[in-house]
Parts: sequence; C-alpha cells; structure tokens
Amino acid sequence: MKSCPCGNDHPCMLLVFGASGDLTKRKLLPALLDLETRAALPPELLVFGFGRSPKDDDGWRREAELALREHARDIDEAAVRRLCQRLHYHAGNYTSAADLTALAERMRSRSECPALGNTLFYFALPPSVTEELVLRLAETPFATEEGRAHPRQRALMEKPFGRDLETARRMNRRVLDLFDERQVYRVDHYLAKDTVRNLMVFRFANAIFEPLWNRMHIDNVQITVAESLTIEGRGGYYEEAGVVRDMIQNHTLQVLALVAMDPPLAGDEESIRDRKHEVFRALRPLYPKDFVYGQYRGYREETGVAPGSVVPTYAALRVHIDNWRWQGVPFYLRSGKGLGRKVTEVAIQFRTVPLCIFGSEEACAAIRPNVLHLRIQPEEGISLTFNAQKPGGSDLVGQTKLGFRYDELGKVTAESYAKVVLDALRGRPALFWRSDSVETAWQFVEPLLDFEKTLSPDSLPLYTVGSAGPEAADELLQRDGRNWIEPVGKP
Ligand code: BG6
Repeated sequence: MKSCPCGNDHPCMLLVFGASGDLTKRKLLPALLDLETRAALPPELLVFGFGRSPKDDDGWRREAELALREHARDIDEAAVRRLCQRLHYHAGNYTSAADLTALAERMRSRSECPALGNTLFYFALPPSVTEELVLRLAETPFATEEGRAHPRQRALMEKPFGRDLETARRMNRRVLDLFDERQVYRVDHYLAKDTVRNLMVFRFANAIFEPLWNRMHIDNVQITVAESLTIEGRGGYYEEAGVVRDMIQNHTLQVLALVAMDPPLAGDEESIRDRKHEVFRALRPLYPKDFVYGQYRGYREETGVAPGSVVPTYAALRVHIDNWRWQGVPFYLRSGKGLGRKVTEVAIQFRTVPLCIFGSEEACAAIRPNVLHLRIQPEEGISLTFNAQKPGGSDLVGQTKLGFRYDELGKVTAESYAKVVLDALRGRPALFWRSDSVETAWQFVEPLLDFEKTLSPDSLPLYTVGSAGPEAADELLQRDGRNWIEPVGKP
C-alpha cells in the first residue's frame, strides 16, 4: 500500500463537479490561483474536474488558463503554470455510477493516497443535478461500503439550496444521507467578503460596542443590499428566482444574523453557527403588512422575461427578532436591482437622548440620534455620526462623524473566494450555511413567496431605474415614524 502524504488536516484531492461551468471559471479557479500564488495550497493537492463535455487534461488546462486571464485579479505566471499542472479532467455523466467509478479509479491511480477518503468535493451544479449526483456517489468507490462519505471528505456546495422550504428539505436529506453535517460547506459568497467577516471582529473584538448592542440603546437597524445593475440578460434565471430567492433568503439574512447574534462560545466554531441559527429561529413570522415589493420599470421588456411578469426585483421588510436582546427593535431590510447606487450597508440607529438640556428649541430640534454605519461595499468603512457644538454659536448643534476606511488597514477584498476554499480545505465550517439554518431561512421567507403568487401587474409597485426603489418602501418605515437612513459615501 502506498502511504498518503496528505496530512489529516486537509484534503489532497479537490474534485470539481461542473468543471466547465461559469462558477468554476469566475470564482473557483481564480481563488485557487490566489492560494497558489500565496503558497497556501497543500503541496500534494490534485484538482480533478468532472463534466459532461469531452476534453482531456490539456484541454481543461487551456480552458482554465483563459478563465484565469479573464477573471483573476492578479496573474503570477509561475503560479498559473503550477496550478495548471495540478489540473486533471475526466468526462462523464453525473448520473452514471459507472462514469463516476471510472473517475474514482483514475483519481486513485494519479494520487499517492491509497483511498479517495481525502477528497474535497466542489458542487457547482443546478440543485436537481446535485441531488442526483449525491445519490449516485453513494454507490461508487468515493463512499464507504455503507454508502456514506469518508470522515475526512468534505463537500463545498454552491447556492441555491432549494427554491423553497420543501425543496431545501429534500436536498438536505439527500446530501445528509451521504455526508455528515460538519462535512458540508454551503457557500454564501457574502461571507467571503472581508467586511462581512469583520462584523464578528467588530462586535466581539471590541469591548465598547457590545454593552450598547441591544434594545436598551438601539432604536432600529437597517440593512441595505442595493444594486444599480439590472438583471443583465439573466432573465431566464431571474424569472424563476426574484429578489427574495436571489438576495433576501441568503445574503441579506446572513448579514442580519451576524449583526444580531449573541456572542459565540470561545474557540468553538460550531457555536458561531448555533448563535446565528438562534437568530433565524427567533425571527417573527412575516405578515403582508411587514413587507413591500417592487419591480423596476422596463423589467418586463428584458430578454427572457414574460411580458406581464410579476416577479419582484425589489423587496423591503420589517423584521422582528423575538428574543430579549432585540425585543421591540425593528430590523428594516431592503434589496433590489436597478437602484440608484450599488451599496451594502448596515446602519444601526441608536436611541435619542432622554432629555434635551440645551434650552433652545433650535438646538434641541437639531439633535439627531447617533448612527453607526457599517459599510460593507463599496468604499468599505465604518463611521459613527454624532452631535457636536457648531463653532461660533453657544448652543447650535451640528452633526459630524468619526470614521475610518478599510483601505487604511490594507487592501480590502470585496469578495475573496480564496477564503471560502481555504476554510473548506482546512475544515472550518463556521462561516457556511448549516442545513437547519437554510431550512429556517426558507421557512421565514415562505409568507413572502406565498404573497408573490397573489401579485398582479396592477398590484406590484413599479420604480424607475436609478431611483431609491418604490415609494411604498418609504411608507413602510413612515408608518413606524421612521425613515430610511441614506448610506454614507458617494451616491
Ligand atoms: C448573487 C445574485 O448571489 O449576488 C446576483 O445571484 C447578485 O443577482 C449578486 O447580483 C450580488 O453580489 P455582490 O457580491 O456583487 O454584491
């Protein structure tokens, strides 16, 4: 028997399902190049691509090189060569146990490892294909005799994880028939952003904010995930998705969970997922009075979109978290396409002072609640607005802010898949979706999805491309005596 040079800590085979697909080209390969350049890949790692289109190793290497030149941020020629040397390709059908077995045999023959038990699987396939594939894998040498994954195998999985609660449950069942939960890494690319990850550092590495992080001091929280781009020719996909499936159920709720979660236990990665899951569980069920939808004008003329389509491209929600920390504090979430600016920001509005002591009506009227802006993208940074004495007048109050930009600390990566891949290689599942949270998040958005079915072209508010969204979204907050807080930075 050959001895396996791979440590116990990381897989030495990466098996890419969907090797010719868009995600592999745009995200995975550039991430691998980044890691290769920084010498962060396990030296023995081999990357096998599996896909339907026939090609050989060299064919995939050429394709990969082109993809890297198109999508990678920085190209280090030596690293490109080293990475391409790791790449191998095997053509076959995802639903054929025989094809998968042939792949397994080839991988065995190429690796010094006697077993396939050290493989990281990357699933970048439509959910229906993934479901079929995991069923088949159980019948191949990739699995144990009992049809289960080996303990050191891991699965890196791309969204979507179902399209509603029912399909998510089915998919989870199938995946968990093969893998243990701790082996499954469900990707949310928002969790790859430095600034999203920093929400945890900001909250739990600084002692000054946590005592204020609750209903006693915070009036409301606003999470804006706005895009200026429209659907960009992805009509076929978007008609099936809509804003809730595309942005709310996943990215927006992950940001919400990181803002709202309780402190995890020290050094316990699973505890991060537990604390986030508690937030999802505590979300109060939504009623139609809690949300508004919108669609940008011109959406119905996009290629692949039905002329009378009522698929929403914008949603705003008022969310409550039923626990002691957040009781009575609304979280307002909004996301949409075709808006005035691309910006993701969390704005935490603190309570106003209990009493104005300045005597003059003018000064008292000028006092504003403090707002902490956690700017996730672009112009990543943090700022805190506060009231200050205006120079020259004795009681004139003005607003100013304390702030910092992330680029003062170093180069910010708006999204670094390299961290996602590295976490999966090193076995750190903390910042990935767990199956129970995926289901709870789907359960939470079900009333939204049900309501979508009742929309008609006349009842769905329209908004102009480049605007801030439908007026109904302003009214949602005005009913509570509040307004949307304009994100900081350049419009
Ligand atoms: C994806 C959505 O998950 O996230 C896209 O499918 C959206 O529709 C994208 O544009 C936004 O990601 P980012 O990183 O550009 O904010």
